[in-house]
Amino acid sequence: MSRYKSFSFLMVFVPVFLLVLYFNNIDPEKNTEKNVTLRQAQRKELRRKMCELGKETLYGKILTTGKNFENFIVDDSRKILYCYVPKVACTNWKRIMYVLKKGEPYIDPLSVHRNSVHQTKALDYLTDFSPEEREIRLRTYTKFLFVRDPFVRLISAFRQKFQSIDEPFYSNYGKTMVRLYRNQSDPPKTQREVIALGLQPTFYNFVQYLLDPRTERYGPFNEHWRQMHRLCHPCMLEYDFIGHQETLEEDAGELLKMLEVENKIHFPPTKNATTSDFIKEWFKTVPLEDRRMLYNLYKWDFKIFGFKRPDEILDS
Ligand SMILES: *[C@@H]1O[C@H](CO)[C@@H](O)[C@H](O)[C@H]1NC(C)=O
Ligand SMILES: *[C@@H]1O[C@H](CO)[C@@H](O)[C@H](O)[C@H]1NC(C)=O
Ligand SMILES: *[C@@H]1O[C@H](CO)[C@@H](O)[C@H](O)[C@H]1NC(C)=O
Repeated sequence: MSRYKSFSFLMVFVPVFLLVLYFNNIDPEKNTEKNVTLRQAQRKELRRKMCELGKETLYGKILTTGKNFENFIVDDSRKILYCYVPKVACTNWKRIMYVLKKGEPYIDPLSVHRNSVHQTKALDYLTDFSPEEREIRLRTYTKFLFVRDPFVRLISAFRQKFQSIDEPFYSNYGKTMVRLYRNQSDPPKTQREVIALGLQPTFYNFVQYLLDPRTERYGPFNEHWRQMHRLCHPCMLEYDFIGHQETLEEDAGELLKMLEVENKIHFPPTKNATTSDFIKEWFKTVPLEDRRMLYNLYKWDFKIFGFKRPDEILDS
């Protein structure tokens, strides 16, 4: 009798144990899954689990205003929605949406100039539609997005917008950082002047700006550093495909196959983007307390999309 009992115990325990083991493996994905089909299944499962875990915080607002859909690009002929995240191969995916919109025979995405895809009329945006038309598209179209490690994305945004010459970003954001965190009551008018004076915003100033409660008082973060989940609402929309910058080439191939254009459109070759190797170096000047607060600010991007918590800069 007792032997029978322990046998039935094993019959229950072993499968449950294996199941737990399986789901724990899904956890903060290490991007080790090689099978692209399985990889998608794991990312979707993680998204579901994390959204469930964070539902108090993440399902709060009902998406009624068009403002929440500013980053959604529509292709009506193929019934596709692409939520673009700046700093995550977004120019190349916009090029592909542009090529799809022009129709067959498809031109080479690489031949489309980057400036032309950023013009307002180049692509169809979900915000151009009425609330009813938006709802239908959100519910029935194939939805995809590309994400990347949140801290690497911030570094990439900082490099592009504040380390290179970008006067509009200086006057809209950089100047504020110089005023508030470099103690300049009357900051220089142009980025060239601020550089000449050696007062340009540092990466730490950028982090201070992100952590400053005053920053979002009059509006959300700029899209280049707004949390990915606040741009694309992954807890309200069941994405059909979640791509990662870290596995861009393979994911691009898989997605084009899913859209049935893999023989007609080629994803442009990409230059090496910012990688996580330099995270430690970049965060050297950021005090530990601020690193932790920054992680907290982007925590759900890490969790929902399966990026590993950067212990190496948060725990010491
Ligand atoms: C990937 O995994 C799926 C689902 O388990 C399986 O059907 C498929 O054969 C696998 N593909 C490769 C190339 O191993
Ligand atoms: C700016 O001024 C404040 C108050 O005078 C001071 O505590 C702070 O250290 C100064 N910061 C810099 C970067 O000079
Ligand atoms: C990009 O980086 C990878 C890995 O670090 C390397 O193998 C590859 O050659 C690099 N590609 C280019 C175009 O630099």
